[in-house]
Amino acid sequence: MHNDSLDQKPYFKRHIFCCGNERPAGHPRGCCKEKGGVDLRNYLKSRVSELKIDGARVNMAGCLDRCELGAVMVIYPEGVWYTYASREDIDEITDKHLMHGEIVERLLLTNDQKELRAEQKTGRTCDDGAACG
Ligand code: FES
Repeated sequence: MHNDSLDQKPYFKRHIFCCGNERPAGHPRGCCKEKGGVDLRNYLKSRVSELKIDGARVNMAGCLDRCELGAVMVIYPEGVWYTYASREDIDEITDKHLMHGEIVERLLLTNDQKELRAEQKTGRTCDDGAACG
């Protein structure tokens, strides 16, 4: 049985979910909040508003189950995942992906990815405050 309502275009042109989950310090999986997920989500939301990016909606999400790769976001309808750690990362995702539909390869997470690639660790600090990688 076919349901015509499933043929609708997405309500939002781009729907972005940023993980803001918080776990207790020292949790083996870590969490996106300790990696800046909440602050960077708020920054992304403000940039989307300032730039008046049509049809884009930025929402805070609970755990997206890719904690070791965080902070993470997923953008629909493409289903593209990114890791990010700085305002510069958010600016690049905003400028390239949200404004021009281009994938930011440096920050892209593949479906089978279990750990960050070397270039994705640049500039990050690990849980103990030391530089990662
Ligand atoms: S805590 Fe962010 S994906 Fe799990």
